[in-house]
Amino acid sequence: MSDLEATEQLAAISNYTAQKLAGDATGHGIDHINRVVTNAKMLLAEEPSADYLITLSSAYLHDVIDDKLVSDVSSAQRDVENFLRGIEFDPDQVQAVMFIINNMSFSKTLTDDQQPLPLEGQIVQDADRLDAIGAIGITRAIYYGGHHSEKIYDPNIAPRTNMTKSEYRNLKNETIINHFYEKLLKLPESMNTPVAKKIAKGRQKTMTTFLEDFKAEWNGLS
Ligand code: ADP
Ligand code: NI
Repeated sequence: MSDLEATEQLAAISNYTAQKLAGDATGHGIDHINRVVTNAKMLLAEEPSADYLITLSSAYLHDVIDDKLVSDVSSAQRDVENFLRGIEFDPDQVQAVMFIINNMSFSKTLTDDQQPLPLEGQIVQDADRLDAIGAIGITRAIYYGGHHSEKIYDPNIAPRTNMTKSEYRNLKNETIINHFYEKLLKLPESMNTPVAKKIAKGRQKTMTTFLEDFKAEWNGLS
């Protein structure tokens, strides 16, 4: 057991993440992280057997080692491990957090190397996915697409199916609207926990209504 209280450890982790993601302009800033933490707390209330510190630490750290946000993933991983040791996480706790943050991303599910997540990881994955859908999800997709110079929409470019991870990251012919069909509309059915599934259903409706309205306006119909 560490001498530091869990609340002190989580405050230190929050500061660490805020510093690492400062200046993000892709929808992965500290506001995203704070919403994921809030979602994770809400899901934790329904899943009392999950470890609180491991879940929330992973929620805070899930994007600081992401290959789309950092150029040297191994070095970012070592930095997180050293930091966690420095705030008195024991080796099992460090390993638990690293396993979750290395295996929870959507892009990981497009590789041959998918690993089943423990309950704590399932909660963080749901918490992150909830922030990718609904009104916030629509806003983040547009923000991300704008940052990467994606086209808004092109009716002649069909959404891609069965993408590999590198195809998913190749944005050459990507459009913001296609991203909904390629990923965001699929997230509700992939939720792990019953509560997240229920919330996701409502957010799905927000996205389908948006897409219907978008296409009607595009075609000058409303
Ligand atoms: P993960 O980190 O789980 O692999 P992503 O990196 O795919 O997830 O996505 C994180 C956020 O970036 C999501 O909110 C998503 O909508 C947005 N995003 C990812 N790829 C695109 C894209 N091609 N166009 C628009 N938004 C995207
Ligand atoms: Ni995230």
